[in-house]
Amino acid sequence: MPEPSAPPTPTPQQLETARERVEELRGQIRYHDHRYFVLDEPEIGDSDYDALVRELRGLEERHHALVTPDSPTQRVSGEPQQQFGVVEHGEPMLSLGNAFDAEELAAWHGRVLRELGVDAVTMVCEPKIDGLAISLLYEQGRFARGATRGDGLRGEDVSVNLRTLRQIPLAAHLDAPPAAFEVRGEVYLTREEFERLNVERARAEEQLYMNPRNTAAGSLRQLDPTVTASRRLEFFAYQLGRLAGGSAPASQSEALAWMAAAGFPTNPHVERFGTIEEVAAFCEAWKERRDGLAYEIDGVVVKVDDFALQRQLGAVGREPRWAIAYKFPAEQAVTRLRAISVSVGRTGVLTPFAELEPVVVGGVTVSKATLHNDAHVRELDIRAGDDVIVQRAGDVIPQVVGPVFSRRRGRRLRRFVMPTRCPVCGRPVAHDEGDAAHYCVNRDCPAQLAKLVEHYTSRGGMEIEGFGEQLSHRLIALGIVRSLSDIYALGERREELLELDGIGEKLVENLVAQIEASKTRPLRRLLVALGARHVGGETAMALAVRFGEMAALQAAPREELEAIEGIGPVVAQAVVDYLGDERNRALIERLRVAGVRMDDDVSARGGPLDGEAIVVTGSLDRWSRNEVEALIQELGGRVGSAVTKRTTLVVAGAGGGGKRARAEELGTTVLDEAAFLALLAERGWREPAAR
Ligand code: IVH
Repeated sequence: MPEPSAPPTPTPQQLETARERVEELRGQIRYHDHRYFVLDEPEIGDSDYDALVRELRGLEERHHALVTPDSPTQRVSGEPQQQFGVVEHGEPMLSLGNAFDAEELAAWHGRVLRELGVDAVTMVCEPKIDGLAISLLYEQGRFARGATRGDGLRGEDVSVNLRTLRQIPLAAHLDAPPAAFEVRGEVYLTREEFERLNVERARAEEQLYMNPRNTAAGSLRQLDPTVTASRRLEFFAYQLGRLAGGSAPASQSEALAWMAAAGFPTNPHVERFGTIEEVAAFCEAWKERRDGLAYEIDGVVVKVDDFALQRQLGAVGREPRWAIAYKFPAEQAVTRLRAISVSVGRTGVLTPFAELEPVVVGGVTVSKATLHNDAHVRELDIRAGDDVIVQRAGDVIPQVVGPVFSRRRGRRLRRFVMPTRCPVCGRPVAHDEGDAAHYCVNRDCPAQLAKLVEHYTSRGGMEIEGFGEQLSHRLIALGIVRSLSDIYALGERREELLELDGIGEKLVENLVAQIEASKTRPLRRLLVALGARHVGGETAMALAVRFGEMAALQAAPREELEAIEGIGPVVAQAVVDYLGDERNRALIERLRVAGVRMDDDVSARGGPLDGEAIVVTGSLDRWSRNEVEALIQELGGRVGSAVTKRTTLVVAGAGGGGKRARAEELGTTVLDEAAFLALLAERGWREPAAR
């Protein structure tokens, strides 16, 4: 390709016309971003919106002088930082005192009334979002700096990362913005996004995240802003700090309205009350309804509404007297830890997990829980035989909080040690300094291969039905399958297969047909199926869209991968490492020779679900969550996490209560699995042959 030549210098007239159009486009994009991300009421479709952004990008590319930091195109700067700067908060970021029941709440209220010498006070109740507090500074209406709470006095400058949050306006929606103001609020992850990230991590054999709050905090403290941008962090504004040069709101309720008008998302469930009984009823109600929210809350924050009264009450130490957090109890249970076992993943990573006496936590029976890695086990000091506290984080993933030490007294329990040899193949275990993971060094370890085959043949991968865990293990143990490519030789080994116990003609024929059909899966499925670290559905999709075929991807340097939206340096490196490895190259070559498809046509539009924004909830019979989401994307639909006004369809399986209710509230179509299948059939989709 010829070098792009520098654009000819525009005349002042041309530049002026471009400037006007750029301003106009930015105004429109800001408006639509706000409708979409904050108000949840989009006015235009995706393609019209994309056209606006494309036009703006085009103009900015042609006229570099017109690029400003508050342009909607400038959210991701792309430059990894070395470290975060430290910022001093103008006013300390306080914490809150806690109340754990109605009595403590009433006691707080009594103190407030006494202190003020009044017999009633208006209070604002806000859900207490379980995320992390941040401060946003605006100068002349433009986003100037964002920081974490830190120790309350000093925090970290995470401006570049906060810019990537589409809910945070880069330019406030104010006609005459004050010279400066500060908005404080909570950055959080929805449960769905948390789960999505964990599913991706599980697929990529990375350590699972503990809970949405830690994950949000970790995501915001990434040195590479593209990583932050790839996590869909959200934000609620709950406090208006210093406001210089402008008429300031006189109460919390006015401040919330002011921030909402300025383009910040505020929580829709905030209410104002005059009596503590009403406040207590509000807290009780949310304690029961907390699971229905798309995000986690750990309580309710009660604030005296009037700012003059707040000032009068002041603070004791780090806690304001004018506010209190009513905290909900966590969903926990105590059970016996039977054993700490170790599993071997498809890339050889050893993961300890807890085998528990089954116990019901938050309505679900839990008998296993991941323990992440041995550093984690040591940190918690949990030992086989302990009574442990088990808790559910987010929607499903159970975790062990720690032992009940008082119940250990007098019992001799052995500390856990990571095995030095692989529990499956007996070869040595390696442990890199600085990396929490232990690996089985044997690349031919049957446990790794079994997990890999399972992964390769799963529905999210190459989808070879009938190739369950059992069959994989047998074929591996017999030496019939020594590599993924051996799967494609099974057609010629029918006789051997038929000699196996419990395997008849019909099963073999079916299996061979399935294997044959799997050869036609598009590149994005193959990329997931190969099981490289960090490569889940989204990464694979991005790679397939960009390269279209395996050879082009194999030839791409790391920089080219990093330039793809949603792929950061870590993922790019993992892909390059995987594809550069001799054995993997040979494997891919064998697959190619066996007739496995190596290209994709993802850019093709107009699938049966084109234009649909679909939310899946509950569990389905036919597909796992991953599979159905992959299918929806393949058919041109978008997968949403929370049910919103722009959701066009909710597919509800067993147990999807909260989202179904929300959809019904909004009048969104809810389909069960059968109706969803019927819809697909109606739109001309046929299940792939040989299923
Ligand atoms: S007000 C002085 N409002 O809870 C009052 N905090 O324990 C400062 N939080 O660090 C906080 N939702 O991270 C306030 N609606 C809300 C909140 C909220 C969550 C968090 C925040 C703060 C912590 C206090």
